[in-house]
Amino acid sequence: MDISNIRAIGVVGCGLMGAGIVEICARAGYDVVVREINPELLQKGLGRVKGSMAKGVEKGKLSQADMEAALAHIKGTLSLADFKDCDLVIEAAVENMQLKRTIFTELDSICRSDVILASNTSSLCVTEMAAATERPDKVLGLHFFNPVPVMPLLEIVRALLTSDETVEIGRALGEKLGKTVVIAKDRPGFIANLLFVPYSLDAIRWLDAGLASKEEIDTTMKLGFNHPMGPFTLMDFVGLDTLLFIADAMYEEFKDARYAAPPLLRRMVQAGLYGRKSGRGFYTYTK
Ligand code: CAA
Repeated sequence: MDISNIRAIGVVGCGLMGAGIVEICARAGYDVVVREINPELLQKGLGRVKGSMAKGVEKGKLSQADMEAALAHIKGTLSLADFKDCDLVIEAAVENMQLKRTIFTELDSICRSDVILASNTSSLCVTEMAAATERPDKVLGLHFFNPVPVMPLLEIVRALLTSDETVEIGRALGEKLGKTVVIAKDRPGFIANLLFVPYSLDAIRWLDAGLASKEEIDTTMKLGFNHPMGPFTLMDFVGLDTLLFIADAMYEEFKDARYAAPPLLRRMVQAGLYGRKSGRGFYTYTK
């Protein structure tokens, strides 16, 4: 198996990340099958893909004809059985290990034995997902960043038993999708979140300690360091529930205070303040 054998890609889940992955794969000319768990979520997810491509057309990043060609490559389904002819599958379901293990076991029985199974997880152990299959050498993490069509990075996670060939196919796919690839070991947080999470948690701790306002902290990181978003704007963008989930996974593994979620973050999530997606996090959003 090499990258030239990959023509059809399966994507499990058409949420924020899944939809972005579907979009970039279809725009790169792959046939894409995407699975959601009910017709409403499938319709919403496919609508998200179309909306993002339409924005790309509006911004002059792709032509109307390229958008139509890409959309013609995408097929939605409610059944993983429709992945039987896929040459590679990327799982982008919710961050729940039991669910992911079930999906990997199912994919393992549906897909040909040479097919690579990848997870877009941002913090869960890829080795554990691989152990739910009979092909642990063909399982790896392909961690994309939000918004997927815009962010140029792909973090590849090499699980304990991932083969060199699998990593190389992952790298070649990332490059075909226009991404710059970095490779990390299977540790919660990989490279990106291992650095991003303590930075974000520190911003919350210092806000809570009264160092400065959230606006001042955001302005400092934007104008003093040229970050496109300050930490509070970025945390709202990522989702405070997602951030808490990743921090808890990292703390669980390393037992290091750097990764311990500050009480304010946990209280905000308990109160339903998830950030942009719920309309309120550190800031308030109107659609
Ligand atoms: N297809 C192609 N290009 C698109 C596009 C699409 N669907 N939508 C937007 N673009 C392009 C735009 O044309 C624009 O390109 P130029 O700079 O060449 O003009 C660029 O993307 C930015 O788009 P906008 O002008 O609409 O928006 P913006 O300038 O306000 O930037 C942003 C928005 C890209 C989100 C920027 O604020 C940013 O980079 N923020 C940081 C995002 C970030 O850090 N993401 C990572 C989150 S962490 C994560 O995902 C992983 C995890 O595990 C938690």
